[in-house]
Amino acid sequence: MKEFNKIISGNALEVLKEVPSGIIDLAVTDPPYGVRYRDRTGRSVKNDDDLSAVLPVFGELYRAMRPNSYCISFYGWNRVDEFMKAWKDAGFTVAGHIVWTKDYSSRTGVLKYHHEQAYVLAKGRPARPAAPIADVQHWTRTGNRAHPTEKAVESLQPLIKAFSKRGDLVCDPFSGSGSTSVAAALSGRQYLGIELEEKYCAHARQRLAGVNRYLQTRPDALAA
Ligand SMILES: C[S@@+](CC[C@H](N)C(=O)[O-])C[C@H]1O[C@@H](n2cnc3c(N)ncnc32)[C@H](O)[C@@H]1O
Repeated sequence: MKEFNKIISGNALEVLKEVPSGIIDLAVTDPPYGVRYRDRTGRSVKNDDDLSAVLPVFGELYRAMRPNSYCISFYGWNRVDEFMKAWKDAGFTVAGHIVWTKDYSSRTGVLKYHHEQAYVLAKGRPARPAAPIADVQHWTRTGNRAHPTEKAVESLQPLIKAFSKRGDLVCDPFSGSGSTSVAAALSGRQYLGIELEEKYCAHARQRLAGVNRYLQTRPDALAA
């Protein structure tokens, strides 16, 4: 039942209901921040104007996660109270916080915005990573070519390597262009990505097919 390696198109709340309890070893996710983001070309993110269509997913994710496991979730800093309430209502406790520093500002408001952030959440009392990573990391720019808020595989892979082991199932219920699943596959983990927009699912499947072809020619790449 742990043979996943799929990108599933649909609402994560409904899709996760079909996932048996306790089988996800690690969740790494980047939900809509609830900020009505619009990039320079006018692209937006589905449900970024409605956290009530986003936050209930964490309850279903918690159920599907293995006892004593981690969930790492990016979040919008100005909606932190709503994210924190949803995480705690789901059953998570706070285990850590990570800040990525950008060497450019993504926007200017009251401040110049130079960081992204994620909470490390725990279901139960998971073991500490054998090799903990620093809670301040360098941000890698993606250019957002495929998706308006694409995260870099280089930002996600250290999380996956620190908080899971080879063969584990890594889930991202807000998968977008599939960056978490690509990072998981390149780290020898299984993946389950869920995404509302079919066009991003198609893109993610293409990326993962490319990763599979690469790993077939370079099986040694997983050793690193
Ligand atoms: C911030 S983006 C994730 C971007 C991703 N990290 C990447 O690198 O491409 C959030 C994604 O969640 C999707 N989404 C929003 N609500 C959803 C829901 N209820 N179920 C599944 N996907 C959802 C949006 O379509 C969007 O692609």
